[in-house]
Amino acid sequence: MVDAILGLQWGDEGKGKIVDYFANDYDLIARFQGGPNAGHTLYIDDKKIVLHQIPSGVFHDGVINLIGNGVVLDPVTLKRECETVSSFGIDLRKNLMIAERTHLILPTHRALDKAAEISKGNDKIGSTLKGISPAYMDKTGRNGLRVGDLLDKNFTTSYIKLRLKHQKLLDNYSFNEDISAWEEEFFEAVEFLRRLTIVNGEYFINDKLREGKKVLAEGAQGSMLDIDFGTFPFVTSSNTITAGVCSGLGIAPQKIGEVIGVTKAYCTRVGGGPFPTELKDETGEKLRQIGNEFGATTGRPRRCGWIDLVALRFACMINGVSRLVMTKADVLDPFEQLSVCTAYKINGRETQQIPFQISKVNIEPIYQVFDGWNASTSSAKSAVELPDAMKTYVNFINKQLGVNIQYISNGPGRNQIVALFDK
Ligand code: IMP
Ligand code: MG
Repeated sequence: MVDAILGLQWGDEGKGKIVDYFANDYDLIARFQGGPNAGHTLYIDDKKIVLHQIPSGVFHDGVINLIGNGVVLDPVTLKRECETVSSFGIDLRKNLMIAERTHLILPTHRALDKAAEISKGNDKIGSTLKGISPAYMDKTGRNGLRVGDLLDKNFTTSYIKLRLKHQKLLDNYSFNEDISAWEEEFFEAVEFLRRLTIVNGEYFINDKLREGKKVLAEGAQGSMLDIDFGTFPFVTSSNTITAGVCSGLGIAPQKIGEVIGVTKAYCTRVGGGPFPTELKDETGEKLRQIGNEFGATTGRPRRCGWIDLVALRFACMINGVSRLVMTKADVLDPFEQLSVCTAYKINGRETQQIPFQISKVNIEPIYQVFDGWNASTSSAKSAVELPDAMKTYVNFINKQLGVNIQYISNGPGRNQIVALFDK
């Protein structure tokens, strides 16, 4: 079976740590979408490591990691990341596989991302500027180059052809930054990538499943950034939801087992777009400071707010979430009161649904207020050590979502996670 770990909000739910936590139960960890826009933070031997494209299972012996066809891959970032991971004594040629159908992010994709964002002015998406959207546009536009093409002797010719097309677009945007240094880096990284293990991803993964191996699909970004179901147009360019696992790896829907949804105990978003429960006051600032809410990829301050059950209910529905993990619960430790958004009020009418025009209508969140626990939870090792007020908060969320929170992450460390098996 293939289990999936997915973010249910706007990304940065702490998926990397959760994947790392569960990795030993699996034989293969696979990324199925997104690219270097993702930033999955892990603490290994007290060292902070941010992975962008390599699956978060890479620090486990005997676990194979696959970059699936649904990903858009930047060879430059990959090379840098591989160097970091290798410095821990990990042999990536053995435990990292890259699907040959994976599309490549070219230097001109990064330039186009930047040019397109600038041209949007005040309506800018807040893209990470990693070239994600132009790379996916070239995939659906049937222009893109794929990892397997690197092994073709005509790769450079194909690259030059596509680069010419991109240059016309860049000229249209009046974008005239010199990208020759990026290109130099790119071709060095391409050489490096050619020596990694490039496989036919769909046969590779299905062979593993036939052998009875256990596979974990690692999501990037979050459900509310999904290209179809997120807060369009303020979304990323891939399907971040369970359905993306099938098309991003080449596995059949019947093979999907558990869908593990990850949510923060509150809510954050980086970049532009609607965020109904955003707190622009000192409470929001307190969440940002205590939660250290600054982007792992871009360093940007994240927007912060209360947990939004309208959005979470939607994400549970779209993904078929069977288990929940709540992260960063300890960040709420010093708060006197906590609010939980249970519905939206739009034009005077209450609704429990995400509106189509979410980026245009004025949404007033309806809150239920809870007492905080005002106690330190970061050293708790088992459910009995957690304060009753936290249990009340968690049980309310469980009931509202119809799915139970099974784990609470109470700090960034590898061991700071509490199982709630008494449910
Ligand atoms: P892009 O994916 O770089 O095009 O960015 C589109 C939107 O998704 C922007 O608002 C980004 O801030 C957001 N985004 C992309 N990747 C992540 C992520 O891994 N975590 C949080 N937000 C992300
Ligand atoms: Mg992140």
